[in-house]
Amino acid sequence: MKESWNTHSCNSFTSLVDLSRNPMKWLFPVILYSLILYQLRIISKLHHLIIPFSVTSQVYYDNSTSICKNFMTPSSSQVVPNIVHFVYGLEKDPPFGIVEHLIVLATIRRIRPEKIYFHYQYLPKGTWWERTKSYLTLNQVSSPLHIFGKPLNHVAHKADVVRLEILLKYGGIYLDMDVFPLKGFDELRRFPMVLGQEGVDGSIGLANAVIVAHSSSSFLQQWFLEYRHFNDLLWNWFSVRLPKIMSFEMSDSICVLNHTAFFDPLWTEEGIEELYYRDRGRDFDNGHYAIHFWGAEFKHGWENFTVQDIISGHGVFHRLLTDFIYEFDQKQYLELFEYSNKVQ
Ligand SMILES: *[C@@H]1O[C@H](CO)[C@@H](O)[C@H](O)[C@H]1NC(C)=O
Ligand SMILES: *[C@@H]1O[C@H](CO)[C@@H](O)[C@H](O)[C@H]1NC(C)=O
Ligand SMILES: *[C@@H]1O[C@H](CO)[C@@H](O)[C@H](O)[C@H]1NC(C)=O
Repeated sequence: MKESWNTHSCNSFTSLVDLSRNPMKWLFPVILYSLILYQLRIISKLHHLIIPFSVTSQVYYDNSTSICKNFMTPSSSQVVPNIVHFVYGLEKDPPFGIVEHLIVLATIRRIRPEKIYFHYQYLPKGTWWERTKSYLTLNQVSSPLHIFGKPLNHVAHKADVVRLEILLKYGGIYLDMDVFPLKGFDELRRFPMVLGQEGVDGSIGLANAVIVAHSSSSFLQQWFLEYRHFNDLLWNWFSVRLPKIMSFEMSDSICVLNHTAFFDPLWTEEGIEELYYRDRGRDFDNGHYAIHFWGAEFKHGWENFTVQDIISGHGVFHRLLTDFIYEFDQKQYLELFEYSNKVQ
């Protein structure tokens, strides 16, 4: 036993001496090591999976003082232009009903933007669209097939890319077409990049349904560049999970808002129930700026809704839209009913 150990030790010693005498013999291990490092470069993305669990609290925005932990002196002049962007109709015959109409009106009334861009590939049709389009600045885009040579197969991922490209070009406030604003965004426009947590403490990530960004935001630029590695194996990796990881790495370039800012209720079974079927009468003034209606999760669809459908429903969705309709003056109110009947 002892003997064999000695032999072994002696052998490895000899081979080491051999190697140092003959440098060519280093070549193979060096190449192998490089290959391993190259593979690790890919695997290193796994650290992304670890960070979110090790850091629990991520709220940077202090609602009471309207400042972000990382921007102790936010720019006094608003850096982000007061322009709202919608990206819609990347597929043929996009639906556009009373809900979209009301969302545009609420955007005008509550955010008071200088301009609302409607970036589309295919224009919607119908009465509600005709009633709405005069408020919008139309800009046709073509939906991308690739990003950095990687194919974009799903329309949702195309829309993810288009919104970043548009913000890189113009800056402003990007809103999904199913986001209902509750109040102004002025205090948020002082930060070069603002995202809201999806899930309590950002347990899911930072979602891209609402983005406030300056066109030269370093976070925005880096986020776009990360699409060099795009793949759709994990559905929401690039749109929701990655920005959260980046927010730890680039914490001085982004203001992160509480999950109550944009994504409460959430898309969970419980959240959809509260939104569409059982309003629990909660107040939405606990740092809430907007409510994402998660339209894709509402399986019944609202494209043919009438005013009656909205007023008689039992969810938070119905309550918020009804309250908004009640803010109308009488003329607007009567018009809404009149058009609603026409559509029927
Ligand atoms: C957040 O600010 C709003 C006013 O902008 C206020 O109504 C609300 O109570 C605040 N929430 C918290 C938790 O401080
Ligand atoms: C953030 O969310 C928590 C949990 O819902 C809530 O209690 C708190 O008031 C929120 N904070 C702000 C600043 O809005
Ligand atoms: C809305 O109406 C159109 C035309 O009648 C119909 O094809 C469509 O399925 C309806 N959508 C929903 C969500 O009920």
